[in-house]
Amino acid sequence: MTNNLQVFRWVKGLIKEAAPEKKVMTVYYKPIPQDDLSPPVSPNSSCLRFSRFRLATFLVVAALAVLFVTLSCLNGGWDFRGSVCLTPTDSALVHNVVTTHSPLARQVLPHCIIIGVRKAGTRAVLQYLQLHPDVAVAGYEVHFFDDNVNYSQGLDFYRRQMPYSLKHQLTIEKTPAYFHTLRVPERIAKMNNSIKLILVVREPVQRLISSYVQLASKKDYFPTFEEKVIDPDTDGVNENFKPVKRSLYYIFMNRWLKHFQLNQIHIVDGDLLIRDPFQEIYNVETFLGLEHKISKDTFTFNRTKGFYCLKLDDELGKRTKCLSKSKGRKHPAVDPEVLIQLRNYYKSANDLFFQQVHRRFKWS
Ligand code: A3P
Repeated sequence: MTNNLQVFRWVKGLIKEAAPEKKVMTVYYKPIPQDDLSPPVSPNSSCLRFSRFRLATFLVVAALAVLFVTLSCLNGGWDFRGSVCLTPTDSALVHNVVTTHSPLARQVLPHCIIIGVRKAGTRAVLQYLQLHPDVAVAGYEVHFFDDNVNYSQGLDFYRRQMPYSLKHQLTIEKTPAYFHTLRVPERIAKMNNSIKLILVVREPVQRLISSYVQLASKKDYFPTFEEKVIDPDTDGVNENFKPVKRSLYYIFMNRWLKHFQLNQIHIVDGDLLIRDPFQEIYNVETFLGLEHKISKDTFTFNRTKGFYCLKLDDELGKRTKCLSKSKGRKHPAVDPEVLIQLRNYYKSANDLFFQQVHRRFKWS
C-alpha cells in the first residue's frame, strides 16, 4: 500500500541514456521518491504544472507581441485593405491608404511650411519628403495665408485642408506664393511663431528663366525671354515683369525675418537639389528633427528627364517616378549678353540676401 501511495516528483532531465521507456529520448522524467503523504501527483499533473508555466510564458510573449504590433501599427499605420500593418516604407508609399483609413489619423495644423520660392524646386522637396514615414504632406498648394477669401475662413478651415496624419507624423504643406506675399509672414506667425519654415532658393537668373518658361507654356504666343526681361526704352532690366522682382530674395526675406528667427527657416539650395537631391533632403531631415530614412538609393538619375527621379517599390511594383512634365522643362537659349546683364543686376541683391541668411551661395 505504501508502495502504492509512493509519491513521485518528476524532474525533467537532459541526459539521453536515462529515459527508461524510450531509449533515445533527449528529454526524460526522473522519479524522485517523496517521504511525505501528500496526495499522489501523477507525472501528467506535474507536466501540467510545467504547462501552466509555459502557458503563462506564452501569454506574456503574446501580450508583448501584441504590444509590439500595435506600436508598429502606430508607427507605420494599418492598411485596412490588406489587413496588415504597414512598414514605415510601405506607409510612405501608400500614404493615402494610411491617412484615409486609419481610425487614428486626424488632420492637424502644419508643423512645417515650405514657403517658396516659386520655381526653385519646391515640388521636388515636398515629393522627396513624402517618402519619409514620419511625414504627411498636403497634396496641393493650400493658399491659405496669401488668399484673403481662404484666410477669412479661419484656422479650422486651414486645418481641414491638411492631410490625415498619425500622431508621430509631421504635417507639411507647401505654397510657394507665401514667400513674396506681403501679409503672409505676419499671418503665419500669428498662427504659430515657432513653426519651422523651409525656403528653397535657386540662382536668381535660372529661377527667372524657369518662371518665364512656365508663363510662356500657358500661352499660344508669348514674347521672347529677352523681350520680357529687358525694357526696350531704357535697355535696363524690366522690373515691371513680376518674375524679375521675385528673384530679389532679400526684399521678401526681410519681411520674414521680422517675424521669425533665422534658425526657424531652413534654406534649401535649389541648384544643389537638382545635382545632389540626397544631400539636400538629408539636411532637411536634420532640420525637421527626423530620423534619416530617405536613402541615397532612392534617387536615380533619369537621362531622358535630365533630372533625378525616385526608385519606388510598392504595391504597383518596381518603378521609377519622376516629377510631372511641368517640372524640369526645357529652357530657351538666352542671349549671353542678357545673361550677363541679369547676373550683374542681381549681384548686390544676392549679397544682401547672403548677409541676411549668414550663408553664401555659388551664384555668379
Ligand atoms: P524647371 O522646370 O524650370 O527646370 P517648383 O517645384 O518650385 O515650381 O520648381 C520647379 C523646378 O524644380 C524645375 O524648374 C526644376 O529645375 C527643379 N527641379 C529640382 N529637382 C527636380 C527634379 N527632380 N525633377 C524636375 N525638376 C526639378
